[in-house]
Amino acid sequence: MALQRKTMIAGNWKMNGLAESAAELEAVIQGLASRTLGATEMAICPPATLLFGFAERAVDSPLMIGGQDCHMAASGAHTGDISAEMLRDAGAALVLVGHSERRADYGESDAVVKDKAEAALRAGLRVIVCVGETLAERDAGRAAEVATAQLLESLPEGAAAETVAVAYEPVWAIGTGRVAETPDIAEMHSALRQSLASALGSEGAAAAQILYGGSVKPGNARDILALEDVDGALVGGASLKASDFLGILDAV
Ligand code: PGA
Repeated sequence: MALQRKTMIAGNWKMNGLAESAAELEAVIQGLASRTLGATEMAICPPATLLFGFAERAVDSPLMIGGQDCHMAASGAHTGDISAEMLRDAGAALVLVGHSERRADYGESDAVVKDKAEAALRAGLRVIVCVGETLAERDAGRAAEVATAQLLESLPEGAAAETVAVAYEPVWAIGTGRVAETPDIAEMHSALRQSLASALGSEGAAAAQILYGGSVKPGNARDILALEDVDGALVGGASLKASDFLGILDAV
């Protein structure tokens, strides 16, 4: 990994976690207190019901709390939705947008994802823009084309390396236990960084964090995180247990 980029390990709890899960959060906070983080950033994106409480508990910890999605409007008649401003108000420092589960479950287009990313920046949040190809697209030899097109269409106006990170998550590797081969990850991250240059300039592209996601675990994290253009991990299943999540940090 290039020296100027910080590594980020972000946990995406998805639709998991009840009030009792605060014990897992406490274990992460304790684990971070006994480790030297150096240039590594840590975040947990719990479900919205837990976000405020988690942010209060993490206030004196280096752990950032984030949202998993936001609406593009600041407020209004949008039953069931949560705005970026609300996430910020509840203590979030960042938000994911464009996760493949939202793209698939709610038909979120790149244009919608871009609007959400712009809402995040408007609210003063950092944003992680998620992209990734399906297995059919990979098998058709279109993985890089699909992921880079998604990225360029989803990036917010005013994107900068300090505020916008990318998560490359091949859809077929999410929650399946199947991890992309390291040469494939390396190739995809390099292609994504090259395509970022047209939006952020070459310096911006060199400074932007590109995370890998898809069945990252303590046992495979070291090889993945050692790749030149991999600047961290977006972790689903393994982020739900403090020992696994901290194990991934220990692999940095
Ligand atoms: P996973 O999920 O680690 O459970 O594969 C990753 C993600 O969807 O962000």
